[in-house]
Amino acid sequence: MAFTLRIITRLFVVLSLGLSCVYAARDLRELASTETGTYTVPTVPDVMKVPAGYKLHLKLFGEGHQYYRFNGSNWVQFSAYASLYDEERKEIGHHYYLTHPDALGGQPSWVTQPSKGVPYSIVTAKPLVKTTPDPRNIPWILLKTTKAQGDKGYFGDIAYVQRYNTSEGLAPPSASGAEVGRVRKTSYSASYAFYV
Ligand SMILES: *[C@@H]1O[C@H](CO)[C@@H](O)[C@H](O)[C@H]1NC(C)=O
Ligand SMILES: *[C@@H]1O[C@H](CO)[C@@H](O)[C@H](O)[C@H]1NC(C)=O
Repeated sequence: MAFTLRIITRLFVVLSLGLSCVYAARDLRELASTETGTYTVPTVPDVMKVPAGYKLHLKLFGEGHQYYRFNGSNWVQFSAYASLYDEERKEIGHHYYLTHPDALGGQPSWVTQPSKGVPYSIVTAKPLVKTTPDPRNIPWILLKTTKAQGDKGYFGDIAYVQRYNTSEGLAPPSASGAEVGRVRKTSYSASYAFYV
């Protein structure tokens, strides 16, 4: 009995050593260090991975609303507004939609607010891939930048954006009683990862 126990203990030690090496290697690979902090690359489905060669620059958490308009048969999402927080839960800017898509078709935008003590920067992007890991929440999205300006520590140089870890924000459940053009908002939260 004691012998079996010893074998099992040894096996366990060998296994955990092996595992910790694997995890150490993975952590090294996935950690990104920038002037604004150190971030772990989020785990997302393969279809929404950023192309090779781009590096994680910034991760923020967004909390706000998705906006829907009734078109006679469906609630169609047309805008969003969310406050953006860094990993210390400090609000540094917001997410919104341009009124009209820009020349390259970008509309969702993320902007820092100098009034919050951060330099001005903005990125606008266009959705490339949507995927729905959990139908109770709005999709996860990979977006490609159409325009980025301003401070390079924030959004100035961003090439890709991912929306992941979404919570709620789906269209209103029922269209009954709604007239064409009626607008409704639903609350949501999501994490955003920005790549250069
Ligand atoms: C309303 O939106 C749905 C979903 O986007 C679309 O399939 C449908 O054609 C739209 N109907 C009208 C009248 O625009
Ligand atoms: C994921 O979203 C939840 C809210 O649904 C939030 O509490 C959590 O911090 C988020 N996780 C990450 C890794 O951003």
